[in-house]
Amino acid sequence: APEPATLVIFGVTGDLAKRKLLPAVFGLWQDGLLGSAFNIVGVGRQEMTDEAFKDFAIEALRSSKETDTPQPGALEKFRELLYYEFGDFAGDEVYDLVGRELDRAEEAHGGRKNALFYLSTPPSLFEPISAGLGRLGLADESEGWRRIVIEKPFGHDLKSARELNDALHRVWDESQVYRIDHYLGKETVQNLMAIRFGNAIFEPLWNRGYVDHVQITAAEDLGLEGRAGYYEEAGVVRDMLQNHLMQLFALTAMEAPAAFDADAIRDEKVKVLRAVKPIPRGRVKGVAVRGQYGPGTLYGDRVPGYQEEPNVKPGSATPTYVAVKLEVDNWRWQGVPFFLRTGKRLPKKVTEIAVVFKRPPLGIFPGGLERNVLAFRIQPDEGVSLKFSSKSPGQEMVLREVVMDFRYDAFGAQLESPYSRLLLDAMLGDATLFPREDEVDHAWQIVMGILSAWEGDSPADSPTADFPNYPAGTWGPDEADELIGPDRRWRRL
Ligand code: BG6
Repeated sequence: APEPATLVIFGVTGDLAKRKLLPAVFGLWQDGLLGSAFNIVGVGRQEMTDEAFKDFAIEALRSSKETDTPQPGALEKFRELLYYEFGDFAGDEVYDLVGRELDRAEEAHGGRKNALFYLSTPPSLFEPISAGLGRLGLADESEGWRRIVIEKPFGHDLKSARELNDALHRVWDESQVYRIDHYLGKETVQNLMAIRFGNAIFEPLWNRGYVDHVQITAAEDLGLEGRAGYYEEAGVVRDMLQNHLMQLFALTAMEAPAAFDADAIRDEKVKVLRAVKPIPRGRVKGVAVRGQYGPGTLYGDRVPGYQEEPNVKPGSATPTYVAVKLEVDNWRWQGVPFFLRTGKRLPKKVTEIAVVFKRPPLGIFPGGLERNVLAFRIQPDEGVSLKFSSKSPGQEMVLREVVMDFRYDAFGAQLESPYSRLLLDAMLGDATLFPREDEVDHAWQIVMGILSAWEGDSPADSPTADFPNYPAGTWGPDEADELIGPDRRWRRL
């Protein structure tokens, strides 16, 4: 268990805290993973008593689907660990109150004043809160460790991400900063490294000699879910591509780290992100495709188009789908394209990484030869499958594709929520699953050309007149097929 510590959650009355963070903390605490000397200080701008906050938090736990079943009396005990402070994040007072909470925790539990500050707030508050904590000396580690967790989105573009990094570094050392990308907390994403580097049979094939191309898909069936305020500003490139898909790409394409530790792994991820061939604004047309969903049918029901969602601007040019072809200029991947796609209101929720191998050099059987595929199902139906060809029973030598399948169910254990894993790691000071400053920077560099082409002021750059260009419930715009084709096809999932 981590040392005695206080978890301070800024923005604790927000959606994320309610649906994900509080349930994750409760689950960890109930499993005894946070030790007995632990408490939580919620911080918000809203005036509220400790009692009212306790009620709020317990109600949040009761209503979230992600909360583990409480053992008898557990909720009542957990309630006692909760405190609340409020104030203006631009002033000093609220940080002073937080500081007193740390004193109180130390008096109650003894030990040092360790604290994890979790910023679950709108991004515009990251800087003021970090600065406020700094002003009041709360980033200083002389009385205990101090760490700060920053939610996404980390910046709006390369420039603002760099400014945010600079602002954080005026207060914190990089080793104190934990940038969250919840995809890295997914069990199956971590398994990518286990499968690649824990087996002898995969890695020898993992290069341009054997791999034809790689497909990374993160399809969502959900639409906007009332998040227009955020999504209209972000769009799919910032919401999914710059962070989650780039992380999946980096873990798939990176070299083996010298050791399984935070810096060795992050060094390798940075190296491969740096090797991605730049996509300047003028080259975007051939390598990236965008889409926005119109009205359509999903699971038999009519659903509205993006522009009909509440609070979306009429004629909005915000993309909800992106497909991109990445080329990697290094020895391992020369000539092997990586195709990444993600979108909202696609026919189903599925995240997958598929390594598609080259065809055998010579066809000696009747019929064509298929490409073998090693697919990592990140979610749902978590597992790994290998598709290959086999003789179909009978007189003739006819080959058919068959699948060898490993399913996570085989372990008989429930997969923990990514937030539990990441929170616990941050409490323990393990930054392996958190993107480092330079990773975030390189991921932004890769997508900046795309953003500037699509958000440019010249109408020639931004012909979005064809939006919406895919009906909800379909696999995205037709141009995406042209992007991967003509002799390759997106996997039917
Ligand atoms: C979030 C995005 O980061 O990831 C959402 O903001 C998206 O738009 C979500 O729906 C997807 O996460 P998951 O874990 O459900 O695949």
